[in-house]
Amino acid sequence: MTGNAPTTEQVSSLLDDRDLVVVSNREPYSHEYEDGEVTVSRPAGGLTSALDPVMQSVGGTWIAWGSGDADHAVTDEDGRVGVPPESPAYTLRRVPLSDERVEGYYYGYSNQVLWPVCHLDTAKVNARDEFWQQYREANRAFADAVCGEAGDDPVVWFQDYHLALAPRFVKANRPDAFCMQFWHIPWPSRDVFRACPQYERLLEGLLGNDLVGVHTDAYCRNFLDCAAALPGATVDRATRSVVYDGHRTFVRPFPLGVDAEHHRDLARSDAASRFWREFGDRHGLADVAVALGVERLDYTKGIPERLAALERLWETRPAWRGELTYVQKASVSRGEIPAYQRLQERVRSEVERINDRFATDDWQPVVYVEDHLPQTGLAALYREADLCLVSALRDGMNLVAKEFIASQVQDPGVLVLSELTGASEELGEEALTIHPRDTHGFADAIERGLRLPSDDRGRRMCELQRQVHASDVYAWLDAQFRTVRAIRRGRQRATPPRGR
Ligand code: G6P
Repeated sequence: MTGNAPTTEQVSSLLDDRDLVVVSNREPYSHEYEDGEVTVSRPAGGLTSALDPVMQSVGGTWIAWGSGDADHAVTDEDGRVGVPPESPAYTLRRVPLSDERVEGYYYGYSNQVLWPVCHLDTAKVNARDEFWQQYREANRAFADAVCGEAGDDPVVWFQDYHLALAPRFVKANRPDAFCMQFWHIPWPSRDVFRACPQYERLLEGLLGNDLVGVHTDAYCRNFLDCAAALPGATVDRATRSVVYDGHRTFVRPFPLGVDAEHHRDLARSDAASRFWREFGDRHGLADVAVALGVERLDYTKGIPERLAALERLWETRPAWRGELTYVQKASVSRGEIPAYQRLQERVRSEVERINDRFATDDWQPVVYVEDHLPQTGLAALYREADLCLVSALRDGMNLVAKEFIASQVQDPGVLVLSELTGASEELGEEALTIHPRDTHGFADAIERGLRLPSDDRGRRMCELQRQVHASDVYAWLDAQFRTVRAIRRGRQRATPPRGR
């Protein structure tokens, strides 16, 4: 947590002292058994790492699926545990889900229907009836947990696509709750969204919210277009709101940022320097340029496309052999889904093939790391990288780009950024923008980034840092809570006085 974090008092005042309950599928901390001992880990992924510092400063309750095998051994009888474990600042309430439910709701509907649809990859959609049944049931379980945890007049903040139905369930039981939801992935156009067989039910669920947040104006327009086609819904584009079933839902863009000061401090830490000395020595990185990629092994991230561009570079411009090393930090993700298994295998075998093709006795083109890295280790990689390559085929925002920028505390590096990310709207001017499937243009951009004169790099990075610090995760939080207050005040004014 850093200087930009709002105080508990500031947030309470924006929320008019109402309790805050955050609800997400993924939990910010999970407890696992390792050799009989309970250990704590922090799952990979932008959502939890963005929201944890917010909750640490605000306090309140975070409700999430208890996915760790030791999760329920450390909670009290109501499923609660204080986190972060080293100095608890808020309550984590874990929702237990059976294996069958996880199979259908998480691996099924969330990640084989909604994820590919929202990332415009409809060929990957696998819409089985039982996935939908389990999705509904899991959403009910989350909604029940909210109703059990929330005090009077709470603000309930749902996160992401796993929980599209829960807001309406909560609202039906607790009309006093202010329900809001942030959709962390892209919102597609109406034609694409209709690839979900239950698209109308999903919209109905989401329209149980008072406020729906997305990253960009374009996603906001797409959402309103989808809602306009829902029978019984009326869209008011001037106020960017939808009236459905007598209830008004406002839809707004709030581009998510990172805790920029925290990332800068990590990058400056002694632990980061120690990590780099050891890592750089082990992989022979002292005298080469370093390009970096950091992601979950997800088919939306464009990892094979990036490896193809690097291969093209080493193939057509051999001067870069022995001069440029690519470091790929990858985290295994959603490994029970065949499309993810195929991607993992493909990435590993491409790395091996490229290394076989170009490696020399004293140089390895691709350093591939699947092991967990400490936060300071990741910060060291960001800090030392000459280039960060973000080549997503579709990405709601992409926080890796922003973490890289915030971690540039030495000689400024260059961001090479896919135009298909939400982040490109904010950062596209000063990054080197690429299309991930244009292998030739991508290889050119990598070389251009490596040759960029230092004054140009410095100017670009300075502007990117200004942007990333000004639009950090706390600005995102602040904008949403100010909107909550404005909506509530507007409603109070519009409510006719009681009695005569
Ligand atoms: C994306 C989603 C998050 C999710 C994260 C990690 O960032 O928007 O909701 O938590 O990926 O994926 P996982 O399936 O491991 O939670």
